[in-house]
Amino acid sequence: MSVCPDSVAILVLGGGGREHALCWRLRQSPRCARIVCAPGNAGIADVAECAALDITNRQAVVDFVAREGIALVVVGPEAPLVAGVADALRNAGVAVVGPSAAAAELEASKGFTKDLCAEYDIPTARFRRFASAADAHHYVAVHPLPVVVKADGLAGGKGVTVAESNEEGLAALAEIHGPVVVEQCLEGPEASLFILTDGQTVRVLPSAQDHKRLRDGDQGPNTGGMGAFSPSLQLTPALQQQAMDEIVLPTLAAMQARGTPFQGFLYAGLMLTADGPMLIEYNVRLGDPEAQALLMRLESDAVELMWAAATGTLASVDPVFSQDAAVTIVMAASGYPWKPVAGTVIEGIGAAEALGVRVFHAGTGRSDDGRLVAAGGRVLAVTALGHDISEARALAYAAIRKIKWHGGHFRRDIGKTA
Ligand code: AMP
Ligand code: GLY
Repeated sequence: MSVCPDSVAILVLGGGGREHALCWRLRQSPRCARIVCAPGNAGIADVAECAALDITNRQAVVDFVAREGIALVVVGPEAPLVAGVADALRNAGVAVVGPSAAAAELEASKGFTKDLCAEYDIPTARFRRFASAADAHHYVAVHPLPVVVKADGLAGGKGVTVAESNEEGLAALAEIHGPVVVEQCLEGPEASLFILTDGQTVRVLPSAQDHKRLRDGDQGPNTGGMGAFSPSLQLTPALQQQAMDEIVLPTLAAMQARGTPFQGFLYAGLMLTADGPMLIEYNVRLGDPEAQALLMRLESDAVELMWAAATGTLASVDPVFSQDAAVTIVMAASGYPWKPVAGTVIEGIGAAEALGVRVFHAGTGRSDDGRLVAAGGRVLAVTALGHDISEARALAYAAIRKIKWHGGHFRRDIGKTA
């Protein structure tokens, strides 16, 4: 399986902006014979066949791949990984980009990752694990401020509260069902470090920064991400090397030593503190919307790269990225992240793309009469390149002005702090 075949049938799992960007890039490769995305969305349908499939059902995915003659599967979101879909595909002899369920614990359980950090001396916030909110009550009530309260399991980017008062910490705790992690609050700029590994070779991808809060000036609640830019200017090459040496490589070695090697995209959320980079969290996949910015900058053949990562041959492929910067602005439906309003009509995407940006669809569908409509919380991810972030940013906002959509909102300060 080592050399990438000339003609590969590919399945991408997921249906957001990240998967639209993946499908778009994979489709550009002359090696892409066919590309299917499950479930996909209305924008993905322009670049891939969309298939209805329960992507967390291992047997359903394995059966689909066998029936359709798929040779390579790229997993976008965490849920199928945590459900063991990558294991099932690998057992069936299919090339897959994405970690085993055991390695996906790095994202699925914050407690697992914190214990691993403690065991291997990986810099992270001081912490305590609790089996339940009730057990954590006293600790949160008296913890020095600010106190960080986290649900241990997957929460779609919404399970973390940085509380400025003990009352606020207790209120956050009351919302958590299941195990809890309570942490010291770290200070500094945040940056995301991305790598791709086949289990042996590690390729460092461009860095990025996302904007998690809903409103301008980093106000409002945490969301899945309202925008991103790449590269992160704060994660200098020296800090990136330090984060690789002290955080990412020791983690990969630890996973190897435990007999659960990591394969796929790994994304380290870092706080660049006065004491050096510290790990906030791992995600076992590309970030969304960071992926849109990264993939916009990818210049190498995406099928060769993914094939190599999936088949243990990444040593033979060193991906090249554009020197340009990328900015991605998310347009979200009114009501996001609480109760996004669906069904509002979107126009002007063609006019926006005519300016040279890509409008990736995060949550769109078609109305009965075939019009493009909002069908999710995050709806579009407008992505632009430029010589630097301010140029990319100006182009992305110029393109947004061409989009005629009254059902949504977006931040006006994406990339501004860069
Ligand atoms: P997470 O889902 O773990 O990435 O956390 C979401 C956001 O909460 C992060 O991007 C940080 O802004 C913030 N956060 C999480 N843990 C900490 C911490 N220990 N100290 C300060 N901020 C944190
Ligand atoms: N943008 C953050 C995430 O994908 O988790």
